[in-house]
Amino acid sequence: MEALLKLENVGKRYGGVDASGVRKEVRALDDVSLTIYPRSTLALVGPSGSGKSTLALCMALLEPMSSGKIWFEGTEITNLPERQRRAVRSNIQMVFQDPVSSLNPRMTALELVMEPLRVQKRGDHRAQRGKAGDLLERVGLRGEKLNERPSEFSGGQRQRIAIARALALEPKLLILDEALSALDCSVQAQIVNLLFELQASLALTYVFITHDMAMAAHLADEIAVMDHGRVVEMGVVARIVNGPQHAVTQRLLAAARGIDNVADAPRPVQ
Ligand SMILES: Nc1ncnc2c1ncn2[C@@H]1O[C@H](COP(=O)(O)OP(=O)(O)OP(=O)(O)O)[C@@H](O)[C@H]1O
Ligand SMILES: [Mg+2]
Repeated sequence: MEALLKLENVGKRYGGVDASGVRKEVRALDDVSLTIYPRSTLALVGPSGSGKSTLALCMALLEPMSSGKIWFEGTEITNLPERQRRAVRSNIQMVFQDPVSSLNPRMTALELVMEPLRVQKRGDHRAQRGKAGDLLERVGLRGEKLNERPSEFSGGQRQRIAIARALALEPKLLILDEALSALDCSVQAQIVNLLFELQASLALTYVFITHDMAMAAHLADEIAVMDHGRVVEMGVVARIVNGPQHAVTQRLLAAARGIDNVADAPRPVQ
C-alpha cells in the first residue's frame, strides 16, 4: 500500500536565547523517520517537550523542517514553492487542544466552518453555507446552534466545531494535538466515537497526539513514542502495550494504569 505521509530523517532546530541572554539552539526534532498509511490512526505519545507538537507542525507544513525529507502520497513535498505547498496543505489539517484560542470569538459556528472554504474560494457563498451546515450536522450541531458564537458552546461542542472546520477542505490527514485532553471523560468518549464514525465515512487518516497511553491504545493502530525529539519506539498497539522496550514507554504505560485506578475512585461532586 502506498504511504499517505512519509518522513525521513526529519530534524527541527529552534534558535533562541536563554534567561541570561545567551544564544542557544533547541533541537526539537532529531532524525525522525516514520510512515503513515491511509485510513490508519497513528498515536504520538511522549512526555512534555518531547517534540510531538513540533512534529505535527512539520507534518502539516506549518513549520519548515531544518533537515530531512517529507512525501505526501508518493510526491516529495519538502521544499515546495508557496502555491503548491498551499495546495498540499489543505490535505493535512490540525485540531488543537484549546479551541478558545483557535476559534475567532466573533464568528458564529457556521461562519467558522465556512471560513476555510471562503479563503480557498471553494464554491459560491450558497455552496459554502450548505457545506458548512452539513459538516456541523455531521459533528452533532444543528438548527439555532449554527448561529451561536464559541463562548456560547461547551468545551466539547467547541471541539466539534473545530473538527468540522478542519474537515471543510476535505483533508485526507487530520492531526489532533491533545484535542481531547482538556475535556472530561464522558465528553472525550463521545468525541472519540465521532472520530471513529468520521474516519469510516470519510476515509480519514489520523495522527492523534496525547499524553495518555490508555487513550492511544484505544484509538490507534500504531503508537510512536517520542522522547527528546526522537521516535524511540514505534509499533502496533498490542506490541507496544504488551512488550514495551523503552523506559519512556514503560513509564507512560505505568502512568496510564495509575490513572485507570484513579478513574475507579469516587469523583468529587461538581
Ligand atoms: N517556537 C519555538 N521556539 C523555540 N523552542 C520551541 C518552540 N516550540 C517548541 N520549542 C521547544 O521544542 C521542544 C519540543 O517542544 P514541543 O512543543 O514540540 O513538545 P511537545 O511534545 O508537544 O510537548 P507538550 O506535551 O508539552 O505539548 C521543547 O524543548 C520546546 O521548548
Ligand atoms: Mg505539544
